[in-house]
Amino acid sequence: MRTQVLYKSRTGNTEKLAKAVFEAIPGTDKDIAPFHGQTDYNMGDLYFIGFWTDRGSASVEVLDYLGSLQGKRIALFGTCGMGQSPEYYKKIEENIRVFIEDDNEYMGAYICQGKMPMAVREKYEHMKNPQNEKQMEAMIRNFDMAMLHPDEADLKGVRNFVKDIFEKIRKEEQENE
Ligand SMILES: Cc1cc2nc3c(=O)[nH]c(=O)nc-3n(C[C@H](O)[C@H](O)[C@H](O)COP(=O)(O)O)c2cc1C
Repeated sequence: MRTQVLYKSRTGNTEKLAKAVFEAIPGTDKDIAPFHGQTDYNMGDLYFIGFWTDRGSASVEVLDYLGSLQGKRIALFGTCGMGQSPEYYKKIEENIRVFIEDDNEYMGAYICQGKMPMAVREKYEHMKNPQNEKQMEAMIRNFDMAMLHPDEADLKGVRNFVKDIFEKIRKEEQENE
């Protein structure tokens, strides 16, 4: 089974995850590449598709590529600015998952927090006024937390995600024998 890791990363967070995913894939029949408008939809049997969160979803090239895959096993991984919100992560996952055609086997998603550019914090500081002070301070706290991610625990989490997927595939194949 050939495994392809494809990822889009603007500032390096998702790339860190992608490298951890690649290392955790057993065997040697695997490849890793950043997205640069690939139009080959037959690069693997199992795909790990990595994204940075852009307005609650993935960027267009990732969604376009996902929508073109057929008859594959597909797992998603990504980073976003928002921390510790399983409900929000679920929403991101659902927003992206709808692009995957039904003839693929969807294997799940792993999402964690990733740091944001300093300009975002400056914007929050600038926007702060007496009416929104509490909300802006919560956003700034979230920003400061994000600066530490992805951390070792996030990378361990994504490695376990990969491990679980291979275990699931092994069981599926055993059942089909
Ligand atoms: C234009 C833009 C839109 C973003 N939209 C969201 C968003 O909707 N939700 C969120 O949690 N983070 C959002 N972020 C934060 C990034 O998803 C986050 O910093 C991510 O880890 C960047 O990954 P990368 O380093 O792989 O590019 C946005 C960042 C940018 C630049």
